[in-house]
Amino acid sequence: MPLVNTKEMFKKAYDEGYAIGAFNVNNMEIVQGITNACKDLNSPLILQVSAGARKYANHTYLVKLVEAALHETPIPIALHLDHGDSFELCKSCIDGGFTSVMIDGSHLGYEENIALAKKVVEYAHPKNVTVEAELGRLAGIEDAIDVSTEDASYTNPAQVQDFVERTGVDSLAIAIGTSHGAYKFKPGQKPQLRFDILKEIEKKLPGFPIVLHGASSVIPEFVKMINEHGGAMPGAIGIPEEMLREAAKMAVCKINIDSDLRLAMTATIRKHFDEHPSHFDPRQYLGPAREAIYNMVTHKIKTVLGSSNKAN
Ligand code: G3H
Ligand code: 13P
Ligand code: ZN
Repeated sequence: MPLVNTKEMFKKAYDEGYAIGAFNVNNMEIVQGITNACKDLNSPLILQVSAGARKYANHTYLVKLVEAALHETPIPIALHLDHGDSFELCKSCIDGGFTSVMIDGSHLGYEENIALAKKVVEYAHPKNVTVEAELGRLAGIEDAIDVSTEDASYTNPAQVQDFVERTGVDSLAIAIGTSHGAYKFKPGQKPQLRFDILKEIEKKLPGFPIVLHGASSVIPEFVKMINEHGGAMPGAIGIPEEMLREAAKMAVCKINIDSDLRLAMTATIRKHFDEHPSHFDPRQYLGPAREAIYNMVTHKIKTVLGSSNKAN
């Protein structure tokens, strides 16, 4: 099956009350671990590439890895640009085979955000590429940009209808309490998601797919494993999985997960070297790391996304 855009995926997810996992990819083992898990659970999938991943691994290598995944798996896969920060970057990904892009103008003023998203939509839609934009601002670190909690802001439900109508975007990322990275809440702070805002947005945009960024749960087992094997990640806390599962039953159709994959991979490699200090063949530690990615994605599909057996 060729790459698909997110249109049909989101329609089915919205109607049936589940979400599609959008997992960040940076190398072959990550692509394989994710797609094999989705294949085994017959789940649709979004593989997403950040500007940083594109710089690290090279556009062509990543596209070819995803093409290989398509060849090996019958499930629908969309290749998505994560946090595109300019029209030029979106255009380059669209011209280079991506089927979906995010234009992230969330740091801009409202009118500038609209103008930029509209420009990307006008280029993308004739090429059958879907577009995600963001309104409201998440805290946390993405690429080199660190948004402090004070600079973050919840999405204003009063703006969403106007934003979607004027831009023509296909999905909207909103800020309701998630944030990027492994330190989403301070120790002692109660994790919370603003379901009241999500409900308001759902009312303003019936049937329209909503996206949650910063949706890793920072599973304590992996933080513990990292800390027990020479790492230092005290106080890493994420969003409880039950809350994300609730959001997936509502208008949230795309859930972005990167940090949980990073933690699983890093914890596994750290443990591996502690137990096998003489190993130096990369396959000896990248093999288990790939399996850890597979297990994490399997877990997410079952506990958060609800996307098993939704591939056709
Ligand atoms: O939200 C950002 C993703 O976790 C990607 O991170 O920009 O470091 O590749 P990155
Ligand atoms: P996490 O850092 O919570 O995994 O979020 C990833 C993300 O939003 C990618 O765009
Ligand atoms: Zn994000």
